Amino acid sequence: MGVRVAVPKEVASGELRVALTPEVVPRLVKAGLEVVVEAGAGDGSRYPDAAYLQAGARIETDRSALFGTADVVLKVQIPAVAETAAMRAGTVVVALMNASRSLEQVAKMRDQKVTSFALELLPRITRAQSMDVLSSQATVAGYRAALIGADLCPKFLPMLTTAAGTVRPGRVLILGAGVAGLMAIATSKRLGAIVEAYDVRRAAGEQVRSLGAKFLELQINAEGSGGYARELTEDEKKQESEMVAKAVAEADIVITTANVPGRRAPLLVRKEMVERMRPGAVIIDLAAESGGNCELTKPGVEVDVHGVRVVGPLNLPSQLPFHASQMFAKNVESFLKLLLGPQGALLTDYQDEILAASLLTRGGEVVHVPTRDALAAASKGPPA
Ligand SMILES: NC(=O)c1ccc[n+]([C@@H]2O[C@H](COP(=O)([O-])OP(=O)(O)OC[C@H]3O[C@@H](n4cnc5c(N)ncnc54)[C@H](O)[C@@H]3O)[C@@H](O)[C@H]2O)c1
Repeated sequence: MGVRVAVPKEVASGELRVALTPEVVPRLVKAGLEVVVEAGAGDGSRYPDAAYLQAGARIETDRSALFGTADVVLKVQIPAVAETAAMRAGTVVVALMNASRSLEQVAKMRDQKVTSFALELLPRITRAQSMDVLSSQATVAGYRAALIGADLCPKFLPMLTTAAGTVRPGRVLILGAGVAGLMAIATSKRLGAIVEAYDVRRAAGEQVRSLGAKFLELQINAEGSGGYARELTEDEKKQESEMVAKAVAEADIVITTANVPGRRAPLLVRKEMVERMRPGAVIIDLAAESGGNCELTKPGVEVDVHGVRVVGPLNLPSQLPFHASQMFAKNVESFLKLLLGPQGALLTDYQDEILAASLLTRGGEVVHVPTRDALAAASKGPPA
């Protein structure tokens, strides 16, 4: 029998996505893999068991058998401690681990001698684009954010000329024009809004303009390595803040998506700026999970400040689970191909740059150094 790939139902609260969709199954089966899907794993994202069966997968109702006999476990989110406990040593797990914020689960994978790959650690090189789960899920998040903004806004977004008078178009401001920000711009434009955007990377300007939005220019360029942003100096932060304050005050909807990898999200929208916004205005803070771009954001909660609503939604990709899962599954399929040797067996040497960068735990060790350091610091406890 070939390599056995298990796809469990996600157990994290509110998680509707599934790591593998039926569309991908026939290609894996053709490559000699055996695909076993937990009963109901695709229900949340509307992929019924019957579709997996028809695609050539087997449906498993016994969770401990699913985990205990798998060679590879594909998940959206890091396995819960109890899930890892049911795995054999050497089982390969591929998921979005959110390692720095999931130390207990990482420690369990280490102790169980599981080989785990964290998809958020993939290098952002051209060859890894087809596996880039951060990009595919950010695309979903940006789209959802624009729709939530439009939904909460008490105004039309398009300009209307009607017998009942003329309606001026709504104004949407996007802070952070990376993958999610660009999708939020495109979606808001399609709804007819006037869209402005700002990013510290000057290269984003061209992409913003090509979507028909206005790019707010600051005379600095903070493009760091690998296409990510670097942190700004104090003086740069002040200039940025003044420009952003003006744009925020004029906006009906502000969508913030700014992140700097490995750090707290930059604080772009201060309390005073929110107080200057018009009643009815909405802020959707996509950085809520990494500390928030708005000072008043409360993750997962809607805050009302004199009629301005500040929303920090959690796990937006799970709100569009059908396509979020479809894209995730394609990413995982590409990653899986890297793990297989020419005869369809699992590789055991991870010299490939992509595998090496995303390897989190192996053989009882945490291989990823920042996570290993974080675990060591956590085990020492807080400083006295
Ligand atoms: N495989 C690849 O080559 C690859 C894959 C994905 C992304 N990228 C590049 O990386 C870019 C960013 O990716 P992401 O969306 O995942 O990034 P991200 O989620 O880390 O950050 C979102 C955006 O916030 C911006 N930002 C950071 N600090 C800011 C501040 N103080 N004010 C305003 N904006 C700020 C960043 O520049 C980025 O555009 C992409 O647009 C792309 O150019 C390359």
